[in-house]
Amino acid sequence: MEDEILGKAYDGRLMRRLLAYLRPYRGQAIVALVATIAASALALVQPYLMKVAIDRYIAQGDLAGLNTIAVLFLLVLVGSLAFEYVQTFIMQMIGQRIMFDMRMQIYGHLQRLDLRFYDRNPVGRLMTRVTTDVDVLNDLFTSGVIAVFDDVFTLAGIMVVLLVMNWKLALVSFSVLPLIVLVTQWFRRNVRDSYRTVRVWIARINAYLQENISGMSTVQLFRREAQNYARFDEIDRGHRDANVASIFYYAVFYPAIEVVGALAASLIIWYGGGRVIQGALTLGSLVAFIQYSSRFYRPISDMSEKFNLLQAAMASSERIFALLDTRVVVENPAAPRQAAGGSGHIVFDHVWFAYRGEDWVLRDVSFEVAPGERVAIVGATGAGKSTIVNLLLRFYDVGRGRILVDGVDIREMELDALRRLFSLVLQDVQLFSGTIASNIRLGNTDITDAQVRSAADAVHAGRFIDRLPQGFDTAVAERGATLSVGQKQLLSFARALAFAPQILVLDEATSSVDTETELLIRDALRVLMGGRTTVAIAHRLSTIQDMDKILVLHKGEVRESGSHQQLLAARGIYYRLYQLQYRDQELRAVARTDAR
Ligand SMILES: Nc1ncnc2c1ncn2[C@@H]1O[C@H](COP(=O)(O)OP(=O)(O)OP(=O)(O)O)[C@@H](O)[C@H]1O
Ligand SMILES: [Mg+2]
Repeated sequence: MEDEILGKAYDGRLMRRLLAYLRPYRGQAIVALVATIAASALALVQPYLMKVAIDRYIAQGDLAGLNTIAVLFLLVLVGSLAFEYVQTFIMQMIGQRIMFDMRMQIYGHLQRLDLRFYDRNPVGRLMTRVTTDVDVLNDLFTSGVIAVFDDVFTLAGIMVVLLVMNWKLALVSFSVLPLIVLVTQWFRRNVRDSYRTVRVWIARINAYLQENISGMSTVQLFRREAQNYARFDEIDRGHRDANVASIFYYAVFYPAIEVVGALAASLIIWYGGGRVIQGALTLGSLVAFIQYSSRFYRPISDMSEKFNLLQAAMASSERIFALLDTRVVVENPAAPRQAAGGSGHIVFDHVWFAYRGEDWVLRDVSFEVAPGERVAIVGATGAGKSTIVNLLLRFYDVGRGRILVDGVDIREMELDALRRLFSLVLQDVQLFSGTIASNIRLGNTDITDAQVRSAADAVHAGRFIDRLPQGFDTAVAERGATLSVGQKQLLSFARALAFAPQILVLDEATSSVDTETELLIRDALRVLMGGRTTVAIAHRLSTIQDMDKILVLHKGEVRESGSHQQLLAARGIYYRLYQLQYRDQELRAVARTDAR
């Protein structure tokens, strides 16, 4: 719900930090500021020229003078137009550049944050940071910061001019100001509340859509369309009603300001007209007065809108800065050490780990994988197998103990150097939009087309790729939706092989594929593991019998280790697991014969 909190309208600390983004463009900003002030100054001159035209030339019947003043008026108009153009163009440009800088900064920071952060933050929320929140700040820079100067300058300028022209009449026209203050206060308070409500509903719409679009097949399978439609109808209705409510305030506010302005104008005509008749005021001054006062109320209503903008920007920047201030926990060491030799030697040395507090998921795990050795990790669901992989690749840092790769604590290694050693194959293959080939080489230009081809062939992926319409150049849909699970698995093997890592890490690589594909995959694995240090997590014991060593993980502890034969002979956990699966297989075999 943090998305919906609106904090203070103005926070100096946040504002200073926001303005720092303007710093690279301060030269341009100054030009825009000067253009703004020039434009508003020229706008201020117009009613005065009107007064001069009426009093000095129309009243005297001076046609030549009237021509001059008309030309002057035109020049002033063109001038203020030009300045306004400069100001608008520069400010929009600066706004776009700041948005660009900010998005790059946020994205860069997101790339450095560790998995613990992503465990806590749903994707939708992070998307909002990079898109909507940045947009709100853009509004602040393009129509807020500089435009406020414009408004303040115009207001002050008009006040001074009016007071100088005729202070009594000026006071008469200012007499409506308390009304303006009242209307503005009312508007500000209500619009802020309705803005908040609208944000709440937008957040709900986003969350609901995100979940329901990605889960569409489940929705359809369980025939939840009607219920979900009704639920969305409710949310959408709430959103519409909240917006309609805020329209009401706008619809009342602007006419109300107009009415107050008209009231001021009639006061000026009533009082000023009397003075003109008495000869205490010129007709030109009266006209100028009316014009000035009509320009007086626009900046006021603008400013109350900008107040809302400011408030929204404060809330957005607070969230953006909170994200940018999130400490990067898994960090590159200050003085990285190079792993000597790089033979792929892994040591877990009394490793403890918890995702939360003292809730230990791994307890005192110690084991060693010699260079070139193939080690399997087995254990029940939730035993902590994937956690071991997460720690080895430093997606999380260990709680206690240490992990050594080639004799160096992985926390002392450059992250890039560490991860370069590994290829990780997960059951849930992550594909990106692009082509088959681009998904194998993942943007690594060192991998040639020939290498992509031979990696694919080596793991038996070449055959299905060749059957695709454009072979290796076939487009891959988002998340690889157009490929089967087995095909994605083979692709990820090809990817792992193309990167030719020192150490191969497999997590449940052989579940959920048909027998034929499993055979292909098993063969592909042999290719992949050839001569490499391998850590493989497997559920099916049948696939790991020829591994050099098997570790049995139970409730976060390594309870047994040894070869398949040794573990069977020990008659421990592994033996029981094996018997269970073996019996299962036997039963299935019996069932098959029965069916025939
Ligand atoms: N990101 C996380 N945040 C909090 N707890 C987690 C997280 N990931 C895993 N856990 C917990 O840690 C424990 C070990 O999970 P892990 O994924 O390592 O199990 P696993 O052995 O790989 O199981 P499986 O065979 O089902 O894949 C589980 O109890 C799980 O609930
Ligand atoms: Mg797992």
